[in-house]
Amino acid sequence: MRHLMSPLDLSVEELDKILDLANDIEAHPEKYAHACAGKKLATLFYEPSTRTRLSFEAAMLNLGGSVLGFSSADSSSATKGESVADTIRMISCYADIAAMRHPKEGAPMVAAAKSGIPVINAGDGGHQHPTQTLTDLLTIRSLKGRLSGLTIGLCGDLKFGRTVHSLINALVRYEGIRFVLISPEELRLPDYIREDVLERNHVPYTEVVRLEEALPTLDLLYMTRVQKERFFNEEDYVRMKDFYILDKKKMKLAGPDMLILHPLPRVNEISVEVDDDPRAVYFKQAQYGVYVRMALILTLLEVKVC
Ligand code: CP
Repeated sequence: MRHLMSPLDLSVEELDKILDLANDIEAHPEKYAHACAGKKLATLFYEPSTRTRLSFEAAMLNLGGSVLGFSSADSSSATKGESVADTIRMISCYADIAAMRHPKEGAPMVAAAKSGIPVINAGDGGHQHPTQTLTDLLTIRSLKGRLSGLTIGLCGDLKFGRTVHSLINALVRYEGIRFVLISPEELRLPDYIREDVLERNHVPYTEVVRLEEALPTLDLLYMTRVQKERFFNEEDYVRMKDFYILDKKKMKLAGPDMLILHPLPRVNEISVEVDDDPRAVYFKQAQYGVYVRMALILTLLEVKVC
């Protein structure tokens, strides 16, 4: 039985297979319509979500399976003091696979240690979000045709943004990747990622504060929102929240093929006027999230479709 806690739980070969499977699902959805008949997915969300929870549920329904779960800690027995370890023991009796989001870093790993079914980390605090990374990799590979030889700008809250942390971990394993880290001083990428991941893997990177400076150099811009829920005081959040706003004027500085990705939700960091730009692919990215979660469920449940 396998769990998914971090993108590094999958080798590059395994990742490629999941992305290939996701592309096949996109091309031939009917082949997979009954692949998980009789199987159940539990979504255990102790923190709010729109995309991750609903795309997991859509993925299992598209595979002919069923879903159950809760969408906030308030509607579970966590409010009565039940531990994550006890909860997953129960869920192991009710479902075949579980996706868990939790505000505490490492909570899905605690669950996995006590689980009788595969557990997928659907986002743990400011730590990791591996299925968002699978979504991002599928989007990049499908629309750029490769995962190597790219200059990638990561912009916004690089301190608390778990999607950025997971994406860096995954991309450093590909050839010719170069990062431009675009953030205010207070929201810089944590040392444990800059030193232990980028520098240890000899991945070139630069750090800049101004988005305008980076835009002309990028193959891809990955925007993120400032993570309000991880700030200790409202004042700091208010000061930081509109630090970056990508608008039509700034997009004139970018190359004609520079894709804009965003894990969403978007707050103010991408103006809605950018949505019609063909380089803006963040809504398409959310659609890829369904295909890749279907591929992941099939892989972890070891379901083969001929
Ligand atoms: N990208 C992402 O994790 O979105 P949600 O918080 O809506 O699930």
